[in-house]
Amino acid sequence: MIHFIILAAGKSERFKKKRSRVSKQFYKFNGVSPLEHLMTSISNNPQINSITLVVDRGDKGETEGLKKKYPKLDTIISGGNTRQKSAFIALKNIRKKRVKTKNDIVLIHDAARPFLEKKIIEKCISNLKKYDGVFPFLNVDDALRDKKNLNTYDRNIIISSQTPQAFKFDKIYMAHKQIKGDYPDDVAIAIEFGLRIKKIEGQKLNFKITNASDNIIYEKLIDQYYRNRIGTGFDFHKFKKGKSIKIGGLKIKSKFSFEANSDGDPVLHSITDAILGAINEKDIGYHFEPDNKTYKNANSIIFINKALNLLKDKKGEIINLDLNIICDYPKINPIRESIRNNISKILKINKDIINIKATSTEDEGFVNTKKGMACQTMISLRVFDYG
Ligand code: CTP
Ligand code: MG
Repeated sequence: MIHFIILAAGKSERFKKKRSRVSKQFYKFNGVSPLEHLMTSISNNPQINSITLVVDRGDKGETEGLKKKYPKLDTIISGGNTRQKSAFIALKNIRKKRVKTKNDIVLIHDAARPFLEKKIIEKCISNLKKYDGVFPFLNVDDALRDKKNLNTYDRNIIISSQTPQAFKFDKIYMAHKQIKGDYPDDVAIAIEFGLRIKKIEGQKLNFKITNASDNIIYEKLIDQYYRNRIGTGFDFHKFKKGKSIKIGGLKIKSKFSFEANSDGDPVLHSITDAILGAINEKDIGYHFEPDNKTYKNANSIIFINKALNLLKDKKGEIINLDLNIICDYPKINPIRESIRNNISKILKINKDIINIKATSTEDEGFVNTKKGMACQTMISLRVFDYG
């Protein structure tokens, strides 16, 4: 059994400096926090069996919904007032739950290091065959100086250490139990206890968000996990005798209505399909059976909302939307802005990224005054992709 402890109970005092902010592990950019980014990659890692998350009592609200989203997240527990105490609380909890931990492995990692690559985890685990503990390190690249007299130090005799720090479970548990005093990390406790430790090469990418301006690095890196997508949608509905039609959610008086199970809004249907297409989620008919009585006269906003929720799950964001409404009736030009405003409200996006074109078929095409209206959509969006 391989356990992964995420230490997120710190107060982020250096990060919060000058600005009033949330703790660094919960700081969101593009809707994604370092903790969530890390949780996703650890959850997707087949080597890890269970996750224990340690948070400050005051931050419990930030963890709402995480257990449901990440089934490997076994426990969320309150930490202590030092990193060392937080780690020991998590170890004790695992021990209590598991009882037999003889062959277990544990990796203890800072939530403030969100960009942890799979290969470091692999290397930590494989090195535990020979060692009691393993941790990633970096050589120091910058010149090191005394703060006061500015004399330089020999950087070749110094390394900086990162997390995850991986151990045979029982060994690090005993080390924490028996060693008294303050230690900056688990390797320090392990060494004091006499464990055999191996250092492996770390990565700059695995940096720790620490200071106030480190959010800039986080933001630039997290942006790299977005992928652009495009989608297309097309829908057509016949006219029948009626009192009103809906175009992009805008209801207009008419001698027609649409022949459809729902309200038949071809614009919203085509946008729904375009979103679903861009995120690889099939089509509107797959999610809502066309003849299902539940959707009789349904407001097409429910279809859009389904697509938007799926988009939200993928941390998606619409970049722009180009619509082509094909009809000979009604004239779109006078209502173009109203449709645009309406779509902007429904999709909760700025109207500047919505373009509406209209074209007629000169009463000659299969779409004409007597027959109905079609809409074609091209959408560009970006989704979060953990690779
Ligand atoms: N940590 C913890 N419990 C503590 C202190 C720290 O779980 N009592 C965690 C932090 O949440 C962080 C990691 O240990 O993920 C490394 O600590 P650090 O970078 O020092 O974070 P903070 O203590 O939050 O920051 P600061 O020291 O600036 O307050
Ligand atoms: Mg700290």
